Amino acid sequence: MKKIICVALLYAVFCTNLHAQQANAKMNAYINNLMSKMTLEEKIGQLNLVVPGGGSVTGSVVSQGVDDNIRKGNVGGLFGITGPDKIRKIQDIAVKNSRLHIPIIFGLDVIHGHRTIFPIPLGLSTCWDMNLIERSARIAASEATADGLSWAFSPMVDIARDPRWGRISEGSGEDQFLGSQIAKAMVKGYQGAGYSSGKNLMACVKHFALYGAAEAGRDYNTVDMSRIKMYEYYLPPYKAAVDAGVGSVMSSFNEIDGVPATGNKWLLTDLLRKQWGFKGLVVSDYTSVNEMTAHGMGDLQAVSALALNAGLDMDMVGEGFLTTLKKSLQQGKVTQKQIDAACRRILEAKYQLGLFEDPYRYINEDRAAKELLSAENRAAAREIAAHSFVLLKNAGQVLPLKKSGTIALVGPLANNKNNMLGTWAVSGDPQLSVPVLDGIKNVTGNAVNIIYAKGANLTDDSSMAKNVNVFGPRAEFDGRSPEEMIKEAVEAAGKADVVVAVVGEASEMSGEAASRSNLDLPESQQNLLKALVKTGKPLVLVLFNGRPLTISWEDANASAILDVWFPGSEAGNAIADVLFGNYNPAGKITATFPRNVGQVPIYYNHKNTGRPLEGEAFQKFRSDYLDVPNSPLYPFGYGLSYTAFSYSDLKLSKQNLKGNETLTASVTLTNSGQYAGQEVVQLYITDPVASVTRAVKDLKGFQKIMLQPGESKEVSFSITPEQLKFYNSNLKYDWEAGEFIVHIGTNSRDVKSGKVNWSK
Ligand code: NOJ
Repeated sequence: MKKIICVALLYAVFCTNLHAQQANAKMNAYINNLMSKMTLEEKIGQLNLVVPGGGSVTGSVVSQGVDDNIRKGNVGGLFGITGPDKIRKIQDIAVKNSRLHIPIIFGLDVIHGHRTIFPIPLGLSTCWDMNLIERSARIAASEATADGLSWAFSPMVDIARDPRWGRISEGSGEDQFLGSQIAKAMVKGYQGAGYSSGKNLMACVKHFALYGAAEAGRDYNTVDMSRIKMYEYYLPPYKAAVDAGVGSVMSSFNEIDGVPATGNKWLLTDLLRKQWGFKGLVVSDYTSVNEMTAHGMGDLQAVSALALNAGLDMDMVGEGFLTTLKKSLQQGKVTQKQIDAACRRILEAKYQLGLFEDPYRYINEDRAAKELLSAENRAAAREIAAHSFVLLKNAGQVLPLKKSGTIALVGPLANNKNNMLGTWAVSGDPQLSVPVLDGIKNVTGNAVNIIYAKGANLTDDSSMAKNVNVFGPRAEFDGRSPEEMIKEAVEAAGKADVVVAVVGEASEMSGEAASRSNLDLPESQQNLLKALVKTGKPLVLVLFNGRPLTISWEDANASAILDVWFPGSEAGNAIADVLFGNYNPAGKITATFPRNVGQVPIYYNHKNTGRPLEGEAFQKFRSDYLDVPNSPLYPFGYGLSYTAFSYSDLKLSKQNLKGNETLTASVTLTNSGQYAGQEVVQLYITDPVASVTRAVKDLKGFQKIMLQPGESKEVSFSITPEQLKFYNSNLKYDWEAGEFIVHIGTNSRDVKSGKVNWSK
């Protein structure tokens, strides 16, 4: 029987391979034929990605004369435009008026949803649920492909350990293991099992590479990092996306080993193509070819040649390729083979997407009318948003709220539509999002008496307000004085049983070019909270944030804190679902919350140092601070529930292991509280002695478990030497025999631990 199954499996693999080979041969023949007709200019034209202006402008340059350039065959791809009508018009020019009728590929920053907006990626990551994450990407792809698009500039998988960096909001936090799972889930959601349904699009993993390690958290800043750190901590999520078959990669703005990523041959060719076997197309970031001039790599011709030589295929917006490659070819600075290879990869992407067969296949007016922001998609956004909320504090079980009595609903984000979607929601309409006040009314009907008061401006700092209002009003000033607003909120609190303060950042206080050196709540809101605390009423904070904030005072003084990040189109409904207990929060943070900015960068998988601090108190000549403990405010993996979970001691199936044996580590998890709920059980491993220094612990597994009140379950993890591997000084990925400490727990700090010995 076994034999028959094996033969059948082998035959199936053989057939799949054969089929792939035949499809490839057909594609090659098509592209060879097409390229044999293309002039040099037309080939270089394919390498040109333009943005005609509008919502997606993220640099100082936009493309000029786009229609004319398309006619001339000078444009391969376009982004920044959506909608069947607009895209059809542009595609018409390419396929009807250009000499070879080559279709355009249409991309966009579809980051956390297209028209239906899901939580910002950092929020999404806190659900630790790969099915939900994949589903959000699938819905985004389905909407985007009805709306004219075939390419999403997502997932962004940059590991970030510095919350000053605004773009921490766009990724999955600080951990490479979780980040890799999410990278895979996103690619799967966008690309599906192929593009045959017309509802999937090409993903683009970004920003390759190490962009999240910008010095001082300042966007676009220098990155300098050892190879071991890169391989161990920063590269795995990009690699996971490549292994999942991502169709494209975007190079990053930063330098790596002194050479900007966009012109870095080691990165784009040796690592990406040769070591990892990536076969798709590599696109630059917005004018990142040109920006190599400012980095000090030469003039536009020099940096464009550098980028092509490094392995870059497509030039986003800067037109360095378009305007200089011909000259560089004539001068022998680039080769025809390199131009052909880049052109071929772009044509291959178009072919695989089916654009040659039908240039209009991603324009679907009917589907657009039915699907965009449909009730079904909104329901998914509501559900997924609720799963992304993290309960940071819940003293005296003040949450969930009762659906009765009087609530004072206060704060600049309590009745606000403009900030619900968060950063990078380029196709989302803030006016179609649900504010918190409406959500509470929707969920409680007339059962709760709500007294609303704005209480404070988002910020009273006019220069900050100006900086965050670049894409529309995010921080607006009320006509009243701060004192009047606070007075109104305090009066509302006086009449209420509980105060719900909806506070935090404006959506554009995080995201691209939105770094902050101060991670406190804006002062206007701190003043409001101080006044509310004085009323003595239970104070629930609903916190909007694109990054970990420094909220030690708020943690000490509020009764409860629910972190909702930026929840998306269904913000208010999802928040109300959780506040009133229709859904029990289960999110766990994926980026450490510091106590103050001075602790940054702060992350759980740090090294021990030669002088580690034992405990919290300051000790002279230890690695610590005079003025703040080393520990964070909330550790990685932290998040509470309305119910309580208890962990039994850790059970290990063996104490001594050898070679490829499997260790089973388990705990009994009990829901010892009053509510049904989910818990993310986390597995960490420490390798205390190795040939290179290792982190104090690393996440190696997790499971999200649902338990009814009183229910218990044994949760087991299988551990093999694969999970013990690391990069040694020779960058060899292997494990070393010795002692290992296995930890299972509710977050990276609160764990049950046990030791094993593992010999080779
Ligand atoms: C610059 C950003 O870094 C990148 O993430 C984005 O995809 C492009 N602009 C296009 O908007």
